[in-house]
Amino acid sequence: MSVYLGIDVGTSGTKTLAMRADGTILATTTVEYPLSSPRPGWSEQNPLDWWKATVQSIRRVLRAGKVKATDVAGIGLSGQMHGSVFLDKNHEVIRPAILWNDQRTAAECDEIERRAGGRKRLIQMVANPALTGFTAPKILWLRRHEPRNFDRTVKVLLPKDYVRFRLTGEFATEVSDASGTLLLDVKKRAWCKPLLRRLELDPDLLPAVHESEEISGRLSPTAAKEVGLPAGVPVVGGGGDQAAGAVGNGIVRRGVISATMGTSGVVFAHSDQVQIDPQGRVHTFCHAVRGKWHVMGVVLSAGGSLQWYRNKLAEAEVAEAKRRKIDPYELITAQAAEAPAGCEGLYFLPYLTGERTPHADPYARAAWIGLSLRHGRAHMIRAVMEGATYAMRDCLEIIKEMNIPVREIRLSGGGARSEFWRQMQADIYGQKVVTINAEEGPAYGVALLAAAGTGAYKNVVEACAATIQVVSETKAHPKTKRIYNRAYPIYGKLYRSLKGDFAEIAQLVTGMR
Ligand code: XUL
Repeated sequence: MSVYLGIDVGTSGTKTLAMRADGTILATTTVEYPLSSPRPGWSEQNPLDWWKATVQSIRRVLRAGKVKATDVAGIGLSGQMHGSVFLDKNHEVIRPAILWNDQRTAAECDEIERRAGGRKRLIQMVANPALTGFTAPKILWLRRHEPRNFDRTVKVLLPKDYVRFRLTGEFATEVSDASGTLLLDVKKRAWCKPLLRRLELDPDLLPAVHESEEISGRLSPTAAKEVGLPAGVPVVGGGGDQAAGAVGNGIVRRGVISATMGTSGVVFAHSDQVQIDPQGRVHTFCHAVRGKWHVMGVVLSAGGSLQWYRNKLAEAEVAEAKRRKIDPYELITAQAAEAPAGCEGLYFLPYLTGERTPHADPYARAAWIGLSLRHGRAHMIRAVMEGATYAMRDCLEIIKEMNIPVREIRLSGGGARSEFWRQMQADIYGQKVVTINAEEGPAYGVALLAAAGTGAYKNVVEACAATIQVVSETKAHPKTKRIYNRAYPIYGKLYRSLKGDFAEIAQLVTGMR
């Protein structure tokens, strides 16, 4: 019996999943590690922690799933995108990796746009504008602020590709994760030589680029001993966590979109051609499906807004839930359901950590707006959920503006688990939403890529068709949909009215430090 391992090198931990070729999950395990923030806005991790967690989680998943090591026929890798691992000539890690949610590189983003010949020209070259989280500005930051470290650097790898190097000895990546470096010609699915020249970066710093299904290397004898598998097991390209998660949700054909409400929220659309938003509000990256692309909007604090409410303002509900041994979100959303749709004019802007899509504004901040004496706790919670969902609709509207058809919206993440939030999503998106039988996200997606890439399926589209089915449908209520259609345009206007004030508040806060 062939078994495929999917490994997801996430921000809070590394998850490994063991799957049979028919899609049955045998076991999953997660090994956690810390994140450090040595200065405000910085976010770093030690790549050696990722490797140790990978070794442990492979060993544990084999035990938990009673998998015979010799049955493992392929490994797929996924991980947090955009992070930078700097290696020296002995292939040792030079400094902690700078992560996707690190905000130190505003000046380098400006430098990239300038050297590229402007924002428009940059978008033409690499399909995306420069964002602080992306990899290229991190390399320029190292060159400016830690020149000695930069001079010692011979390779820059993405998080999952460092794990690949430890597993196989190969310096390799794949198109979906490489798209988030800002150094890939997304149209041609190859490194963008003209931009590298303008940035004065040596192309040798970067690894080889594969398609996501392609075998990128094989388990080396040393790694095999460490993880408890036979040497020679093929490791396929895999995918950045968003593209891999989309494969795990079956988003591999035109018209099928996912709306994933985790801490961040992601609206993800498959696309048969490269489609670029000229304003750069959504990302256009290569998909983990061979020769295909995707368009994606990222809301930084979607489920994260409700998490914030739970952590900071719902002590009573958390304590009661603990007593009753239930999930505090059950009590919190039950309260929200007491308020009417549209919250009688109360809005919540969910910009607790700034925003990516559509505003690309690190200074944006959250707010309840429209409070009156009528409003209480129920309205405030419901407004948080509605605000996060309006932010997801912002992404969806841009995707529709780009003429990408939205025939089916598949929900996943925490926001898909609550019936109340599923209904709210259908009503705010204004169309039916569905859920599917797979819930394991990126790790499942790359296990499917491993199965496809090693011959269990013709390709990953066939692998998804064989394993992923729709299991529930929620239709929009016509009356509630009408209420939200009237309320949503005002939500958009609120950010535009406050944008300048947010920037001033940010300056004020810096001055207070
Ligand atoms: C995608 C993104 C996040 C990270 C961390 O653009 O920034 O999804 O990959 O999960």
